[in-house]
Amino acid sequence: MTDNVVLHVSDVDKRFGGLQALGDVDLSIKEGKTHAIIGPNGAGKSTLLNVCVGRIKPDRGAVVFDGEVITGKTPHEINQLGIARVFQTPEIFPDLELIENVMMPVLSKRDGSFKFAPFASLRKQGEVREQAEHILEDVGLAASMDTIAASLSRGDKRRLELAMCLVQNPRLLLLDEPTAGMARHDTNTTIELLQKIKSRGMTKVIIEHDMHVVFSLADYISVLAQGRIIAEGTPEEVKNNPKVKEAYLGEAAEEE
Ligand SMILES: Nc1ncnc2c1ncn2[C@@H]1O[C@H](COP(=O)(O)OP(=O)(O)OP(=O)(O)O)[C@@H](O)[C@H]1O
Ligand SMILES: [Mg+2]
Repeated sequence: MTDNVVLHVSDVDKRFGGLQALGDVDLSIKEGKTHAIIGPNGAGKSTLLNVCVGRIKPDRGAVVFDGEVITGKTPHEINQLGIARVFQTPEIFPDLELIENVMMPVLSKRDGSFKFAPFASLRKQGEVREQAEHILEDVGLAASMDTIAASLSRGDKRRLELAMCLVQNPRLLLLDEPTAGMARHDTNTTIELLQKIKSRGMTKVIIEHDMHVVFSLADYISVLAQGRIIAEGTPEEVKNNPKVKEAYLGEAAEEE
């Protein structure tokens, strides 16, 4: 495995009115690694991810993917370049069957629309269906592939969204709290699945509050607090960093 930087966030600032959601954020994501971003509620984690996928324009700074500046590109253009993401709130097609949900990102790729592509050849549809079935098996949803997505539990919707990302075989996968709303058993299944993807070499950025998930998966951790990176390092280094303890204790104190 090389130490290639796949994604580089450089000096990013973002304000929402008077609130500095991100300030001077610098981040390098290395090929094949799982990089966790942790931090208290409201730290700016989702904002950072949204900047990376083109949903939010930074006030300053740039995002470089595979040597190309992607700041200013649309979310669709960025997705086409090979970045897939699982959002904090699952974005699925509730009225479609699970299998159709997973086929959609592949069949709709060419024309850029996100509608089921009626003109894809039958052979192509057959191939994609087979691929989608394998992936639904991987995420543990194969038994309900003909079910309508709206009927899934919140945790299963997250797994479906993950399947919709995996079918694209992205170069970089961004996950915003992939285990939120899951019971412990489902969380463990998701950890195993993400470990399996890692062994296939996929680069991942994972935002997560559940430290069991973070420490099971992360090679490297960046800690955000009030929009700034306050610490970075291996899980061991971050765990013992006094600034990190303080950021989390501060949050606990506020909740009391
Ligand atoms: N579109 C927006 N308009 C105004 N303020 C926003 C917007 N999006 C986020 N914020 C604010 O920016 C700050 C960072 O929010 P963000 O959602 O990035 O935090 P987070 O670290 O993902 O938190 P959580 O762990 O709760 O998901 C918060 O104070 C939030 O209220
Ligand atoms: Mg968030």
